[in-house]
Formats: sequence, C-alpha cells, structure tokens
Amino acid sequence: MTEFVPSVLATGQVVSRVQRRGRYLPESMRHPGKMLPSIARAVIGAYTEPGDLMVDPMCGIGTTLVEAVHLGRDAVGMEYEADFANLSVRNLLHAAAQGASGQPRVVCGGCAEHRRRVLGPARQGRARAHFAAVRGEHARAGQVGDPGW
Ligand SMILES: C[S@@+](CC[C@H](N)C(=O)[O-])C[C@H]1O[C@@H](n2cnc3c(N)ncnc32)[C@H](O)[C@@H]1O
Repeated sequence: MTEFVPSVLATGQVVSRVQRRGRYLPESMRHPGKMLPSIARAVIGAYTEPGDLMVDPMCGIGTTLVEAVHLGRDAVGMEYEADFANLSVRNLLHAAAQGASGQPRVVCGGCAEHRRRVLGPARQGRARAHFAAVRGEHARAGQVGDPGW
C-alpha cells in the first residue's frame, strides 16, 4: 500500500469522455452522475491491495467496479436502476475482455436491503474501501478502512 497519499489527487487533467473511450461502453455517458475513472483509480490504488474487495453500494454504470477489476481487486456493486445495473455488467464484461483480473459482482436492487445477502458471510469484513454518496441512516460516505461489509 502507498505510504504517502497527497491530500490533493491530480485526477482531473483528462476529461471524462476521453478517459472512458475504449474502456467503457459508449452508452455509459448517459448516466448523469458518474465518477471520473481517474478518481476511482487513484483512491483504489492508494488505499487497497490486489485481491482486496471493493464495494460500491450505488454503483451507477460501474466506474468503481471497472477500475477495481482492472487493478486486480474484486468488486461488488449494487444499483437499483435496472438500466444502470445492466450497463455495469456490460462494462465489466468489457473490462474482462480487456484482461481485467478482478472478480466482479453486480446486484440490481437497493443497497440497504441487499448488502448482507450480496456480500454474504464469507465476504463480510473483507471490504477495504467503499465508495458512496449514501444519505440517511445508512450513510458511510467516503469511509475507507474496514466498514464491516
Ligand atoms: C452518483 S451515482 C453513482 C455513479 C457511479 N459512481 C459511477 O461512476 O457510475 C449514484 C447511483 O446510485 C443509485 N442509487 C441511489 N440510491 C440507491 C440505493 N439505495 N441502492 C442502490 N442504488 C442506489 C442511483 O440510481 C445512481 O445510479
């Protein structure tokens, strides 16, 4: 793991459309709230090790998951919009075809309802980092470490 992580990550030098070209299906651009792939890549690389499990409880079109599997991390995502969950799966198949080695899983459904079943006993406690913009009682936004998932 990186010993020193700067407080400012230089991740915005290349626009989203260019970062995604060839790495994501073009339809991914229709999601209105995507994360820049470079942000996911920088944080995953800084805070996790190959073989760790990344969890994105609101995974959209799968940016966190795609970057995680390209970096050799396993990844679990939940997304309650079927259209976006489907795009996550297709982006992950695309990543696998490009040689991404992490094992992904995507579930279409609400993260609060599905997280225990999705992660299962074997996976609970394995997640090193997760990404979220979760609100309300399930808020754990930005938490890095072992969130107990
Ligand atoms: C900000 S977007 C995340 C985008 C993602 N990081 C990406 O780059 O593709 C938040 C996503 O969470 C989904 N969402 C919101 N509440 C949810 C919930 N309770 N369970 C699962 N998904 C949820 C929305 O449909 C939306 O696609």
